[in-house]
Amino acid sequence: MLSATQILECKGKRKIAQITAYDYGFAKIAEAAHADQILVGDSLANTMLGYKSTQSVGMNEMLIFTAAVCRGAPNTHVIGDMPYRSYETPELALENAKKFIDVGASSVKIEGYKPEVVEILRKNNIDVCAHLGLLPQTATSLKQVGKTEEEAERILKEAIEMDQCGAYAMVLEHIPESLGERITKAVKLITIGIGGGSHTDGHVTVLQDAIGINGGKIPPFATKFCSVFDVAKKGIEDYVKFVHEENF
Ligand code: KIV
Ligand code: NA
Repeated sequence: MLSATQILECKGKRKIAQITAYDYGFAKIAEAAHADQILVGDSLANTMLGYKSTQSVGMNEMLIFTAAVCRGAPNTHVIGDMPYRSYETPELALENAKKFIDVGASSVKIEGYKPEVVEILRKNNIDVCAHLGLLPQTATSLKQVGKTEEEAERILKEAIEMDQCGAYAMVLEHIPESLGERITKAVKLITIGIGGGSHTDGHVTVLQDAIGINGGKIPPFATKFCSVFDVAKKGIEDYVKFVHEENF
């Protein structure tokens, strides 16, 4: 299992492959496939529970899924994604981050510019992955973020401050490639892109997009490597036929 320190040491040497997973079975598969890190994203609101917004899940759901992933991937660095409103104050963030660590997560992720949250978690020896650019918990549009020079400068400044506060990694979601490159060069932490261009220190993808679990459309910046939907559909069709033809 890679520690946050070992992940930091990969900067400039090799890329970090992060993927989301939410349950025991797929965590096992991700570990067998040597993913560097598994993110139990609050995207499980969408991918696993069918909600429109990540605001629809809280600590209860996140801890159930995170514990399941930790049981399936005991030798992989698992990141617990802190849900909407679970880190509104530094004290609340600490209380909830501890719960992720207690169920087996190696670090936690928070969205947005929150240096005071990173500080309190670091003081308590909890490793933190930041997340800038498009912030699904609070975004009102899915448009790319940081397109104007002014906005790019702001995000760069926020990234540098979060780095100085001690975050070991940072997801950069849906930003221009040039901004992904500027941030990656300006910080010592590991940048993890998702629609962040090709210059980040690593990449994250949503499991359902990468291996085609839910069918339907995937975001423009995602790549589909296989279709579990098609394989599983065929398997279930064969099963239904097996039963209807009285072969059991
Ligand atoms: O919840 C999630 O899956 C995420 C990734 C998109 C980074 O936050
Ligand atoms: Na998330």
